[in-house]
Amino acid sequence: MITIIIGTNRAGSVSAQVASFLSTVYDEIGIKNQTLDLAELPPETFSPDAYAEKPARVIEFTEQILASSGLVVIAPEYNGSMAGALKLFIDMLPFPESFEDRPVSYIGIAAGQFGGLRPVEHLQQVFGYRNALNYPRRVFIPAVGSVVQAEGGLGKHEFGERLREQAKGFADYCRSLGKLAD
Ligand SMILES: Cc1cc2nc3c(=O)[nH]c(=O)nc-3n(C[C@H](O)[C@H](O)[C@H](O)COP(=O)(O)O)c2cc1C
Repeated sequence: MITIIIGTNRAGSVSAQVASFLSTVYDEIGIKNQTLDLAELPPETFSPDAYAEKPARVIEFTEQILASSGLVVIAPEYNGSMAGALKLFIDMLPFPESFEDRPVSYIGIAAGQFGGLRPVEHLQQVFGYRNALNYPRRVFIPAVGSVVQAEGGLGKHEFGERLREQAKGFADYCRSLGKLAD
């Protein structure tokens, strides 16, 4: 099972649209996948008590992460880094088992011209610290609003093709590590 993480909790995010496309891409290559939408995390996730007493949805998401062969993170650029909601979610996950030896693939998206390079590089540092296995072939989508609104959407766009190539490569990477059975 590959788990796609929508790396923001912003209502109506473009990240969610990219995740929806990506899910069809993994379906097409026959890889079971699920999507975690951080918008489903309840407000009490931000409570000072949440680190000790995890909200039920955080526990469910944690179980889904722990059952994953690999993670695909869609990282929108917020103030030159990852969204705060994504970092909070990472901080809620148990150490070390959440990311230890778990393959992770990255997609950066941004309104700006650097296409989410900064949040992805920050995430690689965080996941690297947690001994995750960073898949090196990243995809960055600049001016992402115009890409998803282009005629035919992501599927007909060159970035759609890059995401397909990345998905195939990531599945092979997970298989080569013995993490993905078929
Ligand atoms: C709080 C916030 C901060 C943002 N900061 C940046 C930024 O530093 N650089 C940039 O290129 N775009 C920035 N954006 C634009 C997002 O990258 C853009 O909205 C994109 O669609 C991805 O985010 P989304 O999934 O929330 O839609 C920011 C958006 C928000 C909501």
